[in-house]
Amino acid sequence: MALPSINPTTTKAWKALQNHFDDVKQVNIKELFSSDKQRADNFKIDWEDFYVDFSKNRITKETFKLLLELADQVKLKEAITAYYSGDIINKTENRAVLHTALRGKESDVVLVDEKNVMPEIFAVKAKMKDFTNEVVSGNKKGYTNKPFTDVVNIGIGGSDLGPAMVVESLQFYKNHLTTHFVSNVDGDHVNEVIKKLNPETTLFVIVSKTFTTQETLSNANTLREWFLKHGKQEDIAKHFVAVSTNTEKVKAFGIEEANIFPMWNWVGGRFSLWSAVGLTVSLAVGFENFNKLLKGANEMDIHFKTEEFENNIPVVLALISVWYNNFFGAESEAVIAYSQYLNQFATYLQQGIMESNGKSIDRNGNRVNYETGTLIWGEPGTNSQHAFFQLIHQGTKLIPADFIGFAESLHGNKDHQDKLISNYIAQTEALLNGKTEAQVLEELKGQKISDQEIKDLLPFKVFEGNKPTNSIFIEKLTPESLGKLIAMYEHKIFVQGIIWNIYSYDQFGVELGKQLASTILEDIKFNTSENHDASTLNLLEYFKKFR
Ligand code: F6P
Repeated sequence: MALPSINPTTTKAWKALQNHFDDVKQVNIKELFSSDKQRADNFKIDWEDFYVDFSKNRITKETFKLLLELADQVKLKEAITAYYSGDIINKTENRAVLHTALRGKESDVVLVDEKNVMPEIFAVKAKMKDFTNEVVSGNKKGYTNKPFTDVVNIGIGGSDLGPAMVVESLQFYKNHLTTHFVSNVDGDHVNEVIKKLNPETTLFVIVSKTFTTQETLSNANTLREWFLKHGKQEDIAKHFVAVSTNTEKVKAFGIEEANIFPMWNWVGGRFSLWSAVGLTVSLAVGFENFNKLLKGANEMDIHFKTEEFENNIPVVLALISVWYNNFFGAESEAVIAYSQYLNQFATYLQQGIMESNGKSIDRNGNRVNYETGTLIWGEPGTNSQHAFFQLIHQGTKLIPADFIGFAESLHGNKDHQDKLISNYIAQTEALLNGKTEAQVLEELKGQKISDQEIKDLLPFKVFEGNKPTNSIFIEKLTPESLGKLIAMYEHKIFVQGIIWNIYSYDQFGVELGKQLASTILEDIKFNTSENHDASTLNLLEYFKKFR
């Protein structure tokens, strides 16, 4: 089944939302709480170890009802069925989108070209498990017969961000292996990593779906050359493995077939951490924990597939985000995780969200006449409170924010945890309520300053409030709950792509820069410089002076 292709603005629900928006755009969330004592309970979803409170939003019951109608009218249910069934929903690349199958159960049947892909998925998982156990136990050794101490993941985009974010997030569960990530083509990146490595005890995992990516191949070549200054050609087999769909190119690089972990075209780069792309994760935290991550994601997959939309976490979060993006004109969203472990989470989501939904052509091939993908950004709380929260609280922009918190701390320091969570909760309360003139006046009167000083200072100390937040409160950061959280955002991306009537699973927008970079590289190498604008020519000339 092809995805439905409906311009959302032509639906009844969209038109109703437009009229409704005029009525509620000035509404104050604080007043909504006062007028409805059940609001906090009506606008929350309690699911397994997740507690999702979306009551601190500029929505009424009517808004929510209309948003749910919008989901129905763009045929979201049919789209979800197509997504899970292996239909070619990535039409522009003629591919299915099946990262959900990667975390499915062995007994599931998922057909691609009439062939069940689950046996292949489980064969690769078994290979990952064996390899991980051999490396972690020290049975597998380097060329001087020493066990491995370090793993270097060489990849970029989805072949780096997912594994890097998960390894960082699950640091608490890590074993003795030290992991490094080399992604940037900036040679300083790889050289800084090399400084920390011992060739005798380092395992290199080259991750590239296509095995044609300039950054990854350059870094892999540099690391191989460095390795060969110490080990011999035949030692490469002991130290280099690859994850790719492109077996031929991997072999041409010099990696043996046995050291290749396959992946498939129906796994998008930014959704690939669940495949063998997650090998570094498996090595870092052990295969059992990697499998638990998959299990958590699978539970979220089932929730998304089966739950009614009004209690469906990814659907609700996506609809609320559409409400701000398309009706309030909000341009960006912040993701603030109250966990230092999640310090890479927003960076990871940037690729997932912006590479997927940063599109302006609809599924009929026409330019959209409405806004699509949101900008996404964030840093962990409490650090971000001391950095950019000023703008969220008192700036001119509307920035809806997801606040993610974990009720239990992993190291169990109660004092820190109480302080962390009090900040987590307080910020959403402050964003909701703000501080009125009357409250500020009261406060200032308690200080020893003149009436004139109070009058002068007053406007600067007022907080408008009415800033929307979702609170995603999770019992504890575990491999399972992290899997659920990542899958939650993946499905939110999907829902938004369906509503915006765009193709979320291609990324042609990254191609042009790559093409021009190869032309410019030729110009740099062969000292040619034709067919460029004057600014580009000047930049080229400037650079050539330093070569
Ligand atoms: O940035 C474009 C992109 O194609 C991403 O979608 C992908 O994750 C990344 O490049 C890396 O690609 P590959 O895994 O093929 O090296």
